Amino acid sequence: MEISGSRARLFACRDRTLIIERLRRSPLPIDYLSAIDYLKGFETIFPMLVDGHPFRTVWIPEEDPEIVRIIDQRRLPFAFILEDLKTTDDVATAIQDMWVRGAGCIGATTGFGMWLAVKEAALERDFDEALRRLADKLLSTRPTAMNLSWAIDRQCQAIGRVDGIPEKIEVARMTAQAIADEDATACRSIGEHGFGILKKIAETKKGEPVNVLTHCNAGWLAFVDHGSATAPIYAAHDKGIPVHVWVDETRPRNQGARLTAWELSKHGVAHTVIVDNAGGHLMRTGQVDLVITGTDRTTYTGDVCNKIGTYLKAVAANDCDLPFYVALPSSTFDWQVRDGLREVPIEERSSQEVSHVEGFLDGTETSIRILPEESASSNPAFDVTPARLITGLITERGVCDAGEESILDLFPEKR
Ligand code: MRU
Repeated sequence: MEISGSRARLFACRDRTLIIERLRRSPLPIDYLSAIDYLKGFETIFPMLVDGHPFRTVWIPEEDPEIVRIIDQRRLPFAFILEDLKTTDDVATAIQDMWVRGAGCIGATTGFGMWLAVKEAALERDFDEALRRLADKLLSTRPTAMNLSWAIDRQCQAIGRVDGIPEKIEVARMTAQAIADEDATACRSIGEHGFGILKKIAETKKGEPVNVLTHCNAGWLAFVDHGSATAPIYAAHDKGIPVHVWVDETRPRNQGARLTAWELSKHGVAHTVIVDNAGGHLMRTGQVDLVITGTDRTTYTGDVCNKIGTYLKAVAANDCDLPFYVALPSSTFDWQVRDGLREVPIEERSSQEVSHVEGFLDGTETSIRILPEESASSNPAFDVTPARLITGLITERGVCDAGEESILDLFPEKR
């Protein structure tokens, strides 16, 4: 690749984060893939691309720096649509109705939502009361996701540290940006740590692909970039290790079939979508080498609360003696909760998500009923997998056992 002028100086810089940041901001329709090729020798994982362009899931657009922009995940994989969020109400709706979803993405969007909340509270007579009310509104949107309350707490602490409304607005903006940036960095590190696990398995496979089974979407759409469960997969793929992913469709909302499959396709990773009940059979017949999932909340004792159906995969993996890993940034740990089953609130979503299936017909979004009219349906959105069924947790600081001692060894400041 021939690179000249200012671009040459840009690419000559060995600080990849800086390079990527500059590429992101570049107004030029640059030959991004060539740049990626050029950088390949430097690091493991690259930012996620949509048709050659790097995207995050949530950001402040340069041309309109008073609002928040997101990828509307409800439309994927059939349409790639960006939405602008201008108020705290917009953010609350986007989280509650799952325009954005997934642990890290919920956290980052909440961080930006708190920035909008500070700007709105600044127009009210009682700033503190208004901010509390808006924060509560955000907090009530998704009860299970740990990153939501984590982002609100972090914003409240940062805002409380400065006086003056302009200062509070600025600190909230900077904190929101930091939450998003740190999420992307943490996921990149998760990829690097998880890569070691896949590499070891690959060494036993004589060039055959490593078969990973994953549930729901713990990919970059569920975070700001890279993803948690998918980060090691992208790292292995980018480094030339053959990987194949079994993608659980993940009823009722089909985040696996719609989002994980879309992400993996865009990145060129081999994958096959399966119905949720196929995993056990594939494990028993030797077609799975390991399972990696994400998590929406993990206790400091190692219990994992994740998308409904995760527990059954862990039971099957355990029965088949297969490694079952959970990948998470530390923002997803709940440092207060000891017993996941008893203490983590499980979100109950609309029964319509079970009674109906959504899809696209001739370019139009359609929802069809699949149950008898008289049948009731129930929709617990998460389940808890006990620590004893989990081989290890892949975090931004490294891999540890799913147990209190091992977790606290990695995060000694939480002792
Ligand atoms: O209900 P969602 O889609 O917000 O649930 C989140 C998930 O996709 C999964 O539970 C995921 O594995 C953990 S979040 C990275």
